[in-house]
Amino acid sequence: MAKPAKSQFVCQSCGASSTRWTGKCANCGEWNSLVEERTGVPQPGSGLAAGSKGRTVQLETLKGDTAQTPRTETGITELDRVTGGGLVPGSALLIGGEPGIGKSTLLLQVAAAVATKGGRALYFSGEEATAQVRLRAERLELADTPVELAAETNLANILATLSEGPAPDLIIVDSIQTLWADALDAAPGTVSQVRAATQSLIRYSKHAGCTLILVGHVTKEGSIAGPKVIEHMVDTVLYFEGERGHAFRILRTVKNRFGPTNEIGVFEMATKGLREVRNPSELFLGDRDAKAPGAAVFAGMEGTRPLLVEIQALVAPSPLGTPRRAILGWDSNRLSMLLAVLDARCGVSLAQCDVYLNVAGGLKITEPAADLAAAAALLSSFSGVPLSPDRVFFGEISLSGAVRAAAHSATRLKEAEKLGFATAVMPSPGELTSNSANLKIERIGHLKQLAETLSPCQ
Ligand code: TYD
Ligand code: MG
Repeated sequence: MAKPAKSQFVCQSCGASSTRWTGKCANCGEWNSLVEERTGVPQPGSGLAAGSKGRTVQLETLKGDTAQTPRTETGITELDRVTGGGLVPGSALLIGGEPGIGKSTLLLQVAAAVATKGGRALYFSGEEATAQVRLRAERLELADTPVELAAETNLANILATLSEGPAPDLIIVDSIQTLWADALDAAPGTVSQVRAATQSLIRYSKHAGCTLILVGHVTKEGSIAGPKVIEHMVDTVLYFEGERGHAFRILRTVKNRFGPTNEIGVFEMATKGLREVRNPSELFLGDRDAKAPGAAVFAGMEGTRPLLVEIQALVAPSPLGTPRRAILGWDSNRLSMLLAVLDARCGVSLAQCDVYLNVAGGLKITEPAADLAAAAALLSSFSGVPLSPDRVFFGEISLSGAVRAAAHSATRLKEAEKLGFATAVMPSPGELTSNSANLKIERIGHLKQLAETLSPCQ
């Protein structure tokens, strides 16, 4: 006799389950995240029911016929770059991002691009009514493209619709948290609903050979709502990010089974949708005030692409007992480390000063090679000595104050030269494979050297 369905309490933040409700998840420590969900009775044939027998599967060697992964280019170059060359048929892609960042806009543009090229693109909207999506399409001037649209949240209805007619090339589900399956006794957006919907849709898309794009909401902390489990299930995870008040939007690969990660695509939100930004360095350096102290240009890398950004710092005497440390676009631990190194190794103490650090344009930098540029900006602001505007900086700083080599020096230098910079301040260690005569190189081995050239007494 089948056992009656049991209930368990699943943490909506980390996916851990327990038999009792508690206010705080014992696994991840999140408060009020446990929701009751029923564990279903195993279906006959699912392999979980008692007495069910499996069949033997054929085991194969690693060597065999492997064709190059076929790809469908969307024609949106920034998206194609981020996905590693275009959409892969049969793969599943998850796009996460804060509300209002432009996920629905981007996906409507992708659907229209695929449909215009003759593919069948379906757009299931769970959040907006068809009229709202139509309005957006009109605003984007895409209303005439043959995208097929439905406002639907019931998983069974979506699967039934998919089984009709020719197999689509692209399915977009906006968003996965709104879908619900009748069979599950849990609210939409809960872990078990999201997991079941993702699984069924992935199974369909693998079988039909179409690309599936899911939109995922993000939580306050910035990770995709529902546990990491959806990120494990899909082939590619992209995050769409940007600062409110800035028009730039950055599409970043977090995971990609079919291509490189850490690639970025840069867009600008305009009145008629997202516009691709082909040369982001020009944009991030756009309107800088080169004469003011406290600004240094960092020659960075995002994936395979060089990117020059301005790092701005303001160091001011603090009236507070505990001076302020405000930081935008960079890691606050990294700033604390840098301030400690400046104090202990270079004799520059900012302990009595408020420190503000900002990466221009709303970009977030995670590369350790930004240390030298951040240090230059801090020292320049502290000393009041402006840095010469035609210089770029890159290099990682170790706890001893030594400047460590950074990868891809040649690519960084080439980009700096292309944008008219005259001097590059870079680490002493590290081979330089190629450099043209137009860019002057200043090698620096220890942060002290920089502190000495930027001292207030000069
Ligand atoms: P949307 O795609 O709805 O965001 P998400 O799906 O991530 O929640 O984008 C909404 C924002 O984008 C909204 O604030 C208006 C702005 N927007 C433009 O600036 N220009 C446009 O052409 C469109 C369609 C939206
Ligand atoms: Mg949306």
